[in-house]
Amino acid sequence: MPAAIEIEGLTKVYGYGSDEVEAVKALDLTVGHGEVFGFLGPNGAGKTTTVQMLMQIIFPTSGKGMLLGKPLGDISARERIGYLPELFQFHTFLRADEFLDFHARLYGIPAGRRRQRVAEVLEIVGLNENAKSRIRTFSKGMLQRIGIGQAIINEPELLFLDEPTSALDPMGRRDVRDLILKLREKGTTVFLNSHLLSEVEMTCTQIGILNMGRLVRVGDIQSLVQPTHCVDIRVEGLPPETMADIRNLASKVDGDEKEMTVTVENEAEVEKVARIIMESGAQLREFTPRSQELEEIFLQSIEESD
Ligand SMILES: Nc1ncnc2c1ncn2[C@@H]1O[C@H](COP(=O)(O)OP(=O)(O)O)[C@@H](O)[C@H]1O
Ligand SMILES: [Mg+2]
Repeated sequence: MPAAIEIEGLTKVYGYGSDEVEAVKALDLTVGHGEVFGFLGPNGAGKTTTVQMLMQIIFPTSGKGMLLGKPLGDISARERIGYLPELFQFHTFLRADEFLDFHARLYGIPAGRRRQRVAEVLEIVGLNENAKSRIRTFSKGMLQRIGIGQAIINEPELLFLDEPTSALDPMGRRDVRDLILKLREKGTTVFLNSHLLSEVEMTCTQIGILNMGRLVRVGDIQSLVQPTHCVDIRVEGLPPETMADIRNLASKVDGDEKEMTVTVENEAEVEKVARIIMESGAQLREFTPRSQELEEIFLQSIEESD
């Protein structure tokens, strides 16, 4: 079976001459079926541009892509794909149920099934009590929910969500997270654009970090989030030679001989650091091991690539 998303050398240059912006630079990426891929990056990194190229809203300057084994723009693949744009504008004169029905019709879902599916989706996105309200009257959060509703109306195998929680309050964010987790259980492939690390950490199986149009990290969330271990240490009277031993052992030491964060490769080395300190006769005040957090990996990847 081909991958859900295959991208090769995808590049987008906006504008001409001195106005030229290379928004996405030779992006290579493969996302397997059933993965929830978190596409992380600061504002302006090129996330929206990437998804818009995949959705054929804008055309790549060069490179190519396949979705569900079909070239970009293929209609038979499009029927099995859902998309929530970052900035969308809906027909505000429609009622919520009419709006979803309209989108279901665009996907060619037959009338009987449509009624059923519209009711299901209103329930899923928590708008069943607003079914008969006009979209004009909706709050930002409700708009975001109905947007997600139209994106899943066709029960897509592959779903693109561009910053789906940007307009939501913490409760709304949690609902969207839960929804993504449900889709993940069902085996839906999700491509999630986000600048929110916690959201990606809680929902995704894989992440890619984009900075200034370049993919700077990509991989399974486990392998990215737990490759190194950090230990926060506070200590009194650490001899200089012991400090030197720690520096030799560690891949990184931040701080000084009283208060430091030591980064090592594995669990065994965490223990070694503890032993060295104990054997030196110094007084250990604090020793708190933790795995490197996504936020640190994110910031580190961005800094290294800048
Ligand atoms: N239509 C456009 N014309 C010119 N530049 C654009 C256009 N859309 C986006 N850009 C530029 O491309 C870069 C990437 O933007 P975008 O894809 O929106 O990033 P992100 O979604 O990661 O915040 C930014 O520098 C942005 O200013
Ligand atoms: Mg964007």
